[in-house]
Amino acid sequence: MFRRLVEPDRAGVRLMVDGRAVTAAPGDSVAAALLATGVVACRTTPVSGAPRAPYCMMGVCFDCLVTIDGVGSRQACLTGVRDGMVVETQQGKREAGR
Ligand code: FES
Repeated sequence: MFRRLVEPDRAGVRLMVDGRAVTAAPGDSVAAALLATGVVACRTTPVSGAPRAPYCMMGVCFDCLVTIDGVGSRQACLTGVRDGMVVETQQGKREAGR
């Protein structure tokens, strides 16, 4: 659905997304990296389980929440990629303290 105008070179930023190695472009947000690699649904809603994808890309809609390096409900559109980052999509509701 989404594709880059220019693919990142081998010197791109490497991160893990749901256990899969992914290369992002330096300066990408996590949301942009997810969309570029085919991960559209960042999370599912707590009530109906409906998938949600990044929408506003500017920190307003909260549809891009993911777990980053073990910390849940991080806004992927406001977080820059970093080498070694571990990103997990969120399924349903979060538990307190997780
Ligand atoms: S995409 Fe809307 S808050 Fe991140």
